[in-house]
Amino acid sequence: MKRWIVRAASGPLKGAVRVQGDKSISHRALILGSIAKGVSRVRGLSRGEDNAATRRAFEAMGVRIEEEPDGALLVHGVGLDGLRASASPIDCGNSGTTMRLLAGLLAGQSFASTLVGDASLTRRPMGRVCKPLRSRGARIDGQFVAEKNDETAPIEIRPMPADIGLSELEYDSPVASAQVKSALLLSGLYASGSTVITEPVVSRDHTERMLSAMGAPLKVMGPVVMLDPHEWDHWLAPVDFTVPADPSSAAFLLVAGAVVEGSRVGARGVCINRTRTGALDVLRDMGCAVLWSPKGDEGGEPVADLFVSEKSGALRSGARVGSELAVRAIDEVPALVAAAATVPAVSEFRDLRELRVKESDRIEALARVLRAFGREVEVLDDGLRFEGGALRPTWVSSEGDHRIAMASALMALAARGEPAFGSVRGATVIEDTECVATSFPGFVTVLRGLGADITEEELA
Ligand code: S3P
Repeated sequence: MKRWIVRAASGPLKGAVRVQGDKSISHRALILGSIAKGVSRVRGLSRGEDNAATRRAFEAMGVRIEEEPDGALLVHGVGLDGLRASASPIDCGNSGTTMRLLAGLLAGQSFASTLVGDASLTRRPMGRVCKPLRSRGARIDGQFVAEKNDETAPIEIRPMPADIGLSELEYDSPVASAQVKSALLLSGLYASGSTVITEPVVSRDHTERMLSAMGAPLKVMGPVVMLDPHEWDHWLAPVDFTVPADPSSAAFLLVAGAVVEGSRVGARGVCINRTRTGALDVLRDMGCAVLWSPKGDEGGEPVADLFVSEKSGALRSGARVGSELAVRAIDEVPALVAAAATVPAVSEFRDLRELRVKESDRIEALARVLRAFGREVEVLDDGLRFEGGALRPTWVSSEGDHRIAMASALMALAARGEPAFGSVRGATVIEDTECVATSFPGFVTVLRGLGADITEEELA
């Protein structure tokens, strides 16, 4: 068990870093590279545990993936029909993206698969992918859980006989979920008819961008995505690109810069795809306009260096998150809540029911953390309402959720009040932090490099 000890910042944070490659794009590079025809070369792939789970899954299905001396990965694509059955159940670890995208991809294969995950992933809803996949003929079943009226892992997929195949699908998705959309598009690569998906709000579109770059017959019209395999020669071209830095990881560093006065913090080479930049809009509306310096495109994704400095302005208004912004900032809400916790104004986070089914129930988890730091919180069905202000050093547990651990560290940087029970010599203690390796290995080293007083302890 690991824990962090974090003290309030005694001076400004300074430095510019390139966080590792975007987790969502890294998953797609591994998945689509594996079924491309030929060798893909991907630099800057995320080294987090979630992406390692995806890599291991494809290795177990016969894909050769090797590392070049410069750290680039070579993915020896086996073509759309070249995967073979894994000898054992595929362990997706903590990664919802791995499980849901693989559910879609494997639904169209001529072999059987079983997808399993850790305790947190096993609690997460899988009916959202299994149901629409079954409606196009897939033989896929999760475990039905009566009290949730939903399916969860393990997911069993039976072989799809070659003479039957998946049929067309027209799906009006009730949730704005890139995982659902991507699972259905991947299954569509194996279907005899077209796949048309409509989302309530456009979710991250990395799958669409990468599939288009690889030559898949894809059309996007606002919230509607269509994959029409008629007149397509059924192969995907390999890719060769550098994964842009992860905006969700960068958000934690930028917020650290925003909450510690006088800081100058930069995040280099970050993906600024519009479906991912909601947090920057929220910070701007709170008074801190993160500065952008555009750096062109990588793998069909726009990239920029981002900076927080005295020119950005200080956080002074509460946060307002809802509707489309809720989707465009979904993974950054924990960082934004930490920013809002430091501002003496009312913040409201709404339309975030999806946060209840992430790695933890993030609405409850964030309320628990805010209370530990001394703030009162109103928990809403779909979000949180609270007034920020003075924070006190405290004791919290991430309860296994990486983004809750990192958000707690940001609040700790601003916690200067009377120490609460469980704090250590005026510093905040954050327990159960090993989960941060799923998305941001090296978080502690990076934050310390910027000047934060954070140490990691290994408990026996
Ligand atoms: C992801 C999509 C989002 C996001 C998750 C990664 C992806 O989840 O929260 O961290 O890579 O497709 P949903 O699709 O469930 O909204």
